[in-house]
Amino acid sequence: MQRSFRIFIKNMKIKTFVLHVIFLVGLLSWVSDNENSWIQPGKGGILPAEVAFSNPNGTLGYVNVDGDINMEGHPFFEPLGTNGRACVSCHQPKDAMSVSTQSLQQRWNETQGQDPIFAAIDGSNNPKLPQQLESSHSLLLKRGLFRISLPWPVKTDNGKTIKPEFSIEVVSDPTGVNVDPELGLENGNISVFRRPRSVANMTYVMSPDPVFNIKTGTLAVTDPETGKVVGMNMMADSRHYTQKQQALDAYFGHLQGHNTLTDVQLKQILDFQNKLFMAQSHDKWGGKLVENGEPAGLGPHNMKAGKVHILANNNRDPIFHWFNNWKNKETMPQSLNAEQKDFRESVARGNDIFMFREFWIRDATHINSLGLGNPVRRSCATCHNGQMTAQDLAPGWVDLGTTTYPTWTENHLANQKSDLPIFKCTCNKNAAPHPFLGRVIYTTDPGRALISGKCIDIGSIVMQQFRGLSARAPYFVNGSAKTLHELVDYYDRRFDIKYTEQEKTDLVNFLSVL
Ligand code: HEC
Ligand code: HEC
Repeated sequence: MQRSFRIFIKNMKIKTFVLHVIFLVGLLSWVSDNENSWIQPGKGGILPAEVAFSNPNGTLGYVNVDGDINMEGHPFFEPLGTNGRACVSCHQPKDAMSVSTQSLQQRWNETQGQDPIFAAIDGSNNPKLPQQLESSHSLLLKRGLFRISLPWPVKTDNGKTIKPEFSIEVVSDPTGVNVDPELGLENGNISVFRRPRSVANMTYVMSPDPVFNIKTGTLAVTDPETGKVVGMNMMADSRHYTQKQQALDAYFGHLQGHNTLTDVQLKQILDFQNKLFMAQSHDKWGGKLVENGEPAGLGPHNMKAGKVHILANNNRDPIFHWFNNWKNKETMPQSLNAEQKDFRESVARGNDIFMFREFWIRDATHINSLGLGNPVRRSCATCHNGQMTAQDLAPGWVDLGTTTYPTWTENHLANQKSDLPIFKCTCNKNAAPHPFLGRVIYTTDPGRALISGKCIDIGSIVMQQFRGLSARAPYFVNGSAKTLHELVDYYDRRFDIKYTEQEKTDLVNFLSVL
């Protein structure tokens, strides 16, 4: 064996040998990456303190302040409920602690739809459809959406019913779930379909706003247990004020748990979420994003080191800091190739576009209705104003228009070809109307209004953090933007911005390295 190998090597030209080695090393790293890409609930193993996972644009890096995480017995990774799912099922490290449609489709194919992530309860369009059919899970497979069933009329976490300012009718529902006598509106439930949100960098997401809530004009909400002010930037509708409430709800809902989570388990889940930091760490075109001297807004270590709750929509200390080292090819390190230099310049321009390129923001409730004027000439960073994550520092719900007619992402109402259920909300005569849509509003997801019961909140969705975007397509609460390009195109249409193709590319490149 050894001898023939030596002869084989001898006969091989050096160049071919090198190529073989490169190929083998590549194959090995591909295999190991694939092996640890999808984390199965209950599989055990170690999630290293520093680890990176590949995605279509490069790799996403993680840093865990608590060091290596033993996944065996850890409540985030164990199937604690009755359906075989764990938190990690829908919050996968490879997919930026959310889950991408690419992974979902792969799961469907590899397991013939048997993976617990497709559980009838919320992993299908309607639990009463034949679950073995791919078409019964189309919203999950095509748009990455889970069914969220909420009580209607509104019930608060302590079971109190709030009298809403509007009534809801189902205009059309391709899933059938909202018109089902048992699961639907008739029986006090409304189902909307939403993307999972990233569960990392949570110290930023949870950072509390000062005592006054600018969106409601009232005092901020407090955590009933600690009496401390809460931030209200979690979930698309901010329905849970604390991570504890949220985790318990996920246990009973997504995991179909019949028992409860112990205090020890809750602490482990919260510790994990709050000590895990993530950001893109390598880009296919731009190279390493985490070398010394690179932009302070990139990479997981900068996420870990960053300050939370910094209002940064200004030119002193902007949202993702400055990209000065990336502004000019001439001053970039010699070791970079031309392609890498071009890409870095494009990202630096994208950052400036995000921060400073102005357009007319109009008819967006909870921005244009706050006394800034309508329209108001500002930039992306006006709404996305928090440093490092670009979430709103105030409670983050805004009616951008993704779910409300006529600016929604679905087809025009007349041909009713929306994949999503469409609701008609009719506000009471004495309620304050929605400032731009009046008292009759068509929507695929009333958002915050399903919790507050207020007409003015219809269509308001809480902004997500901007991290790990490359690993978790599609985008927006309803998974309507398949790519970052489609996301930018939506804004271009919505606010008639008239970006040039170059500006769009720069913005996309910029978003893809966060
Ligand atoms: C079946 C998929 C699924 C499972 C399993 C799941 N989640 Fe989620 N998670 C979601 C979806 C969907 C949302 C967004 C819901 C919304 O916006 O209304 C979400 C949102 C969250 C958020 C809010 C993040 C933010 O920044 O807004 C946290 C935190 C979270 N989940 C933690 C957990 C924990 C802890 C568990 C396990 C106990 C869990 N999830 C299990 C689908 C899931
Ligand atoms: C009027 C306020 C407002 C402005 C201006 C604004 N956004 Fe947003 N943005 C939102 C809201 C609200 C959401 C959540 C909407 C949803 O999920 O449907 C959002 C979500 C996002 C997301 C997260 C998507 C995801 O799925 O994680 C990105 C990225 C984004 N916006 C980029 C931009 C860019 C780029 C611009 C400038 C062209 C911009 N935004 C301007 C309000 C705004």
